[in-house]
Amino acid sequence: MSDSSDSSSRVTPETLTASGQQGAENTVLQATSLCKTVTSGERTLSILHNLSLNVVAGESVAILGKSGAGKSTLLGLLAGLDIPSDGELVMFGHALDRLDEDGRAGLRAGRVGFVFQNFQLLPTLSAVENVLLPLELSPRSGELKTAQYWLERVGLGERTSHLPKQLSGGEQQRVAIARAFVTDPELVFADEPTGNLDPETGAQVIDLLFSLNQEAGTTLILVTHDHALARRCSRCLRLENGYLSEFQPEAEASSEESA
Ligand SMILES: Nc1ncnc2c1ncn2[C@@H]1O[C@H](COP(=O)(O)OP(=O)(O)OP(=O)(O)O)[C@@H](O)[C@H]1O
Ligand SMILES: [Mg+2]
Repeated sequence: MSDSSDSSSRVTPETLTASGQQGAENTVLQATSLCKTVTSGERTLSILHNLSLNVVAGESVAILGKSGAGKSTLLGLLAGLDIPSDGELVMFGHALDRLDEDGRAGLRAGRVGFVFQNFQLLPTLSAVENVLLPLELSPRSGELKTAQYWLERVGLGERTSHLPKQLSGGEQQRVAIARAFVTDPELVFADEPTGNLDPETGAQVIDLLFSLNQEAGTTLILVTHDHALARRCSRCLRLENGYLSEFQPEAEASSEESA
C-alpha cells in the first residue's frame, strides 16, 4: 500500500477527537499511533500507519474508505479483537496490551458488541441461540425473552428457530445486529451493518442504531459505504492509504465510496 502524496488533510499522528481535547474524562476508546503490518508470502504489507483516535461516550463515528483500505482491520484493532503491530489502545481506561486474550474478552463481555462484515453466526445454532450466545457469558434471568425481544426489534420475530443457512444474507446480518445489542453494550462496532440490506430495511436498521445511540447513549463506531448512514453520525472519518482524516459527508454526498 503506497503513501498518499497529499498530506494536507491528514490528522495523524495527532489524536482525532470530537472536541479537539485529548484524554477527556468520558473517553471510552483511546488509540495512539496504531500500526498494522502483515506478511503475505514474501511481501510485507503496511495496512495502517500511526493512527490515533479518541472516542467519547455517546459519540457515533463513521469510518469510510475504499474496499481494501483497511477499515475492517482497523475496526478489529479498535475492538481489541486483533493486536496492533505497534501503538497502544486503551478501552474503558484499560490498556489492552497489558491484558491477555482472556483479559481482553473479559473486558469486552457485556460492554462491547461487534457486528462482523461476514456476520460470523454459528451455523449449527438457530437465530435465537446465536443471539443468546453473548448472554451466556454473563448469565441473567429472562435470557430467552431478551434474545427474542432483540430479534423482534430487527424484524425477525418470526425467524427465531431458523438456522443461518435458512436465512437470507440480510436476515443473517440482522441476527448479527441483534446479537451485538443483546447485552445492552456501552460500545458497539459494526462493519457495514447495512451492506446486505435493501434501502427500506437498511433505513430501519439505521433508525434502530441511532435510537439506541440516543436512548441508551450507546457509543457507535461504524464502517460503511452508505452516505445516508454516515451523515447521521456525529463524526465521519476517511481511511485512505493507511491514514485517517476527518471529513463532512454533506459536502461530498455525490462522491460514492467504491464498494
Ligand atoms: N492477514 C492478512 N494477510 C495479508 N493481507 C491482509 C491481511 N488482513 C488484511 N489484509 C489486506 O489488507 C487490506 C485491508 O483489508 P480490510 O479487510 O481491512 O479492508 P476493508 O477496507 O475492510 O475492505 P472492504 O471494504 O472490501 O471490506 C486488504 O488489501 C487485505 O487483502
Ligand atoms: Mg471490510
